[in-house]
This record gives sequence, C-alpha cells and structure tokens, in this order.
Amino acid sequence: MDYESNVSEMDFENRMVDPAYNPEDAAVENPLRPRTLSEYIGQDKAKENLSVFIEAARQRGEALDHVLLYGPPGLGKTTLAGIIANELGVNLRITSGPAIEKPGDLAALLTNLNPGDVLFIDEVHRLSRSVEEILYPAMEDFALDIITGKGQMAASYHLPLPKFTLVGATTRAGQLTAPLRDRFGVVLRLEMYSPKELSQIVTRSARILGIEIAADGALEVARRSRGTPRIANRLLKRVRDFAQVISNGVIDQHSASIALDRLEIDELGLDSGDRRMMQAMIDYYNGGPVGLDTLAAAIGEESVTIEDVIEPYLMQIGFLNRTPRGRCVTPAAYRHLGLTPPGEAAAMMQQSLFE
Ligand code: ADE
Repeated sequence: MDYESNVSEMDFENRMVDPAYNPEDAAVENPLRPRTLSEYIGQDKAKENLSVFIEAARQRGEALDHVLLYGPPGLGKTTLAGIIANELGVNLRITSGPAIEKPGDLAALLTNLNPGDVLFIDEVHRLSRSVEEILYPAMEDFALDIITGKGQMAASYHLPLPKFTLVGATTRAGQLTAPLRDRFGVVLRLEMYSPKELSQIVTRSARILGIEIAADGALEVARRSRGTPRIANRLLKRVRDFAQVISNGVIDQHSASIALDRLEIDELGLDSGDRRMMQAMIDYYNGGPVGLDTLAAAIGEESVTIEDVIEPYLMQIGFLNRTPRGRCVTPAAYRHLGLTPPGEAAAMMQQSLFE
C-alpha cells in the first residue's frame, strides 16, 4: 500500500489533546493503524455497512462506490481509507483538498491510478471550485474533460480514466457543495469513541509498542482522551515516559493519573485551553450566548479551531450548547470548574431568605 504524505499544514499551537494530525504521530501511528476491518475497534455501524459494500464490490469485481467519511478530526478517517484499500486489495493514494492546487494536479493523480484504486482526499471541503469541477465527471463518468487553448485554438479532450474509488474525508459535511456531496454513494458518519472502546485501542497499541499496561491504566488513559484514538495513542506515549521514570514502568491507574495530572489533562480529558475558553465565556459573557468570532477574538484562538477541535467534545460531554444566538456553557461546565451555575446561585439565595 502506498501512503503518500498527507501532512496538512498545522495552523495551531501544539496541544497534547489536539486531535489534528501532528507529524510526530506518524512514527507511532503507522504501526498502530489497523489494516483490516476486523482489527478496527468501534464505529460499529459504519464498519458493518462498509463490510457489506466492500464484499459486494469484491464479488462483482467492480470498484467500490465513492465513500464520504465525516466527523471530528482524529477518529480514524485516513485509517479507514487504508483499510478499504487493503480489504479491496488495491493501492491507496493519499492527498488533501488544499494540496490539490490546480486542475492539472488532480488530473495527474487520476491518470496515474490503476483500476479499482482508492484515492483518499482529506479535507475534501477545501477543494477549489476549478478542481471540483473536473472532479464531477471523474467521479460520475470516470472521464476527464479538459479544455485547452482559447478562442479558435480551443480544443476539448475527453480522456477516459480507470474506474476508481474516491474516499473523501471532512470534518464539515455541511460545507460540501451539494453536487459534490451527491456524488458519494456511501456516506458514513464517524462518532466519538466510548471510554471502553478507547481502552481496547490503548491496550492494543500498548501491546504493539511493547508497553506494560494494566486494565485500569488503559481505562484511565481512555477516559481522558476525549473520545479520540489519536489523542489516546499520543497520551499513551507520554504516560509511558512518566511510568518509566517515576514508577516501575508499568502503566496502572495510579501512574496514569499522576502522569495525566502533570500534563494538566483533567479527569474528563480537558486541557488548560478548554478550561480557559469556558472560563472566558463565564467571566466575560455570563456563560453566553456569545458568537463564535467574538469568542475566538476573546481567547486568541482561530474560529475553525474552536469549531472543529474544542467544541465537538465539549458539546459531546454536555458542557456547551450551540444556539442560534451563540454558544452557551451549561450548568455542568460551571460545576466542573468549581463554580455555582447562575440559576442555582439565585435559587440558593432565595431559599436562604425563607430559612
Ligand atoms: N488505532 C486508531 N484507531 C483505531 C481503531 N479504531 N481501532 C484500532 N486501532 C486504532
């Protein structure tokens, strides 16, 4: 299988719990990547459907229909693309929306595919208009329609392509143009992983990396990995360092807790950035509602980072709501920060008046 470079630019600071791909993950992530659907833990719904579609395509000897994977970063979209190619016994080419600058770049990729190959385009919502336009006939008719020259010299070519499978990945299905979205026959939404699934992933990774870990240690790492395997594997490496230096090298609940506390990752996997954002919403905006751009400016973070990285997990654990008027923190978030939620403070005052 051919893993080409897919490192997209890192445009935010280096956070331990940042689910964005970090080149440092590559060294550890590759041996950890499951190669078959049966090795892949979690995402049961997506996996079950995918296994049927793969088997059907294999039986018919055809290319698999185009697949769109969407969901928050770090949940294994690239890994799944690798598994799809591996299960189909074809090559995988990896690229990303921003990396395909001109129609010619895409044409070069497409004309180099073999029949049945998988082309993985990460951040597919970031393709330029002109590139997207040549992708439509490529996906639908397996052909490139190219126009060269101008005026009387103009000529159009219709170049047949091998039948291939496009696997597109995006954190934002809503940002895809309708014509592009409609050309994916299979659309799979990836969900955040449960602590139990993450602890299975951590245990598997520890085995591959030769790290000794107890079941309670794996669960502690899992609980603080915000539903994201990429973060779990990254934390596992750091916790191993602590276990080696401050205890007997074995990761158990005790050594994992000490390590994660030292890394300032709390029991729910929140880091100082998450807490800072919630605290700012409370201190400056009475807990919200506050608009995304206002909030981004207040904490000096990019809006996309807030939307793609910070918010999904805070919403998942019920600490943040998106409303039409803006973002609001919930009473549970106040309590997590050791504060009394505003409604409860008023109720307590009222009660004390009658006592
Ligand atoms: N490593 C990263 N994601 C994984 C998954 N879903 N299953 C097994 N190992 C993984």
